[in-house]
Amino acid sequence: WNKAALSIVVVGASGDLAKKKIFPSLFALYHDGMLPKNFTIYGYARSKMSEEEFRSSIEGSLGCRLADGAKCEETMGNFLSTCRYQQGQYKSVDDFGKLSKRIAEHDGGHERANRIFYLSIPPSIFTDVAAAASEGCSSDSGFTRVIVEKPFGRDSESFQELSQALSRHLTEDQMFRIDHYLGKELIENLTVLRFANLVFEPLWSRNYIRNVQVIFSEDFGTEGRGGYFDNYGIIRDVLQNHLLQIVALFAMEPPVSLEAEDIRNEKVKVLRCMKTMSMDDVVVGQYRARSIGGEHHPGYLDDETVPAGSICPTFAAIALFINNARWDGVPFLLKAGKALHSRHAEIRVQFRHVPGNLYRNKMGLDLDRATNELVIRIQPNEAIYLKVNNKVPGLGLKLDVTKLDLTYKSRYNNPLPDAYERLILDVINGDKRLFIRNDELEAAWSLFTPILKEIEEKQISPELYPYGSRGPVGAHYLAAKYGVRWGDIVNPDEHEGD
Ligand code: BG6
Repeated sequence: WNKAALSIVVVGASGDLAKKKIFPSLFALYHDGMLPKNFTIYGYARSKMSEEEFRSSIEGSLGCRLADGAKCEETMGNFLSTCRYQQGQYKSVDDFGKLSKRIAEHDGGHERANRIFYLSIPPSIFTDVAAAASEGCSSDSGFTRVIVEKPFGRDSESFQELSQALSRHLTEDQMFRIDHYLGKELIENLTVLRFANLVFEPLWSRNYIRNVQVIFSEDFGTEGRGGYFDNYGIIRDVLQNHLLQIVALFAMEPPVSLEAEDIRNEKVKVLRCMKTMSMDDVVVGQYRARSIGGEHHPGYLDDETVPAGSICPTFAAIALFINNARWDGVPFLLKAGKALHSRHAEIRVQFRHVPGNLYRNKMGLDLDRATNELVIRIQPNEAIYLKVNNKVPGLGLKLDVTKLDLTYKSRYNNPLPDAYERLILDVINGDKRLFIRNDELEAAWSLFTPILKEIEEKQISPELYPYGSRGPVGAHYLAAKYGVRWGDIVNPDEHEGD
């Protein structure tokens, strides 16, 4: 490490993502001693700002979560002193050239000067920035890597355009496409759970699994972000990427090794086995205003940044099928929504009934609820638990559904790192396991483009649901069509106190 210097350039340094996620994650990595010794952070944006102004603009968002009071303050001061600011236009090769000169002066004495560019900017300027930065500011003695984050287009066609345009300036090797859900602790753990435990993998197929639910629920609306959101909608914002990535990792065949390419090969394979969706398997919804306990919650259309009369979905539920030997006929039910009853993200695996269950008449329970269920709670209050039937202790025979429960906060003391911390560290280390390859995106878009087109062409109106509710009724009918009940609705108590 000592022979190498690392510069991390955050392009779009004054934006929301940079302030909320990128700088705090860089600081957390620094605090944990995970950044290489000779690193410098450069904020790059159009606004005129002094170095001091830039530092104070990010200071407020750095948290001492790994806190040790005064020591943390000191560490923060040291971190901020490595942060520099460079004003420049996004399309200007000259401006990126000026930055390059500055970096070179600073990194001079090192054998290798590595550079990472985090493009925290709107997708409409991805290509211009990639072009200007690669021409004006690539490293000539080390690696140059570029981090980009969704949206990667709006459909297959626009994705192809973007992808081809970017590939004129960057090689696949240089590109790190983030899906921040892949950086979440419990998602990283999915492959460990499956492939490092004898008890799960043999059950991981249509033979034992009745359905899989992947649920994303937020208890707040678009609140001011409507301008961005309305152009995309929940399917592009959450289902096509975060939820689909989870399904790919969940359902893929065992990879040859843990190498990035081996894992990504399996993900692409399973994505390509997914059956084209039809509108019969899609429900869309939009939240409307509601007053709860005297407090008024505005509807999606009340957001001033949302165009009047928009039919953009803020909720969607989809039934997805995988046409391969392992998953044939198993419904994967995906659901994502804003302004719902609670904030949680989870995977629920419902197993089949016990054949010839000796206890079926003795349980005093709804047999449907008594099937085993594995829940992987991605957030909040991260946990993995398996619902099993157990005899209630005492005389007589009464059965009860209970949990074998691994709740992270009771088992592990360490605070969990933010997804961005893990992902930025992987970029530094050149580990691509958790980043999306171009062909994965291609497969993901070809799966979703037909329904997205149909929704837009037929102007399909979303079913309205009240702010803070459990979402549109249509989602229940969709699940019921496949004999499924949404686990997070049947068991609302599992979210209490989160
Ligand atoms: C983003 C979406 O990718 O993920 C947002 O654009 C969403 O709409 C967010 O709120 C959720 O991320 P997290 O990590 O807070 O669950």
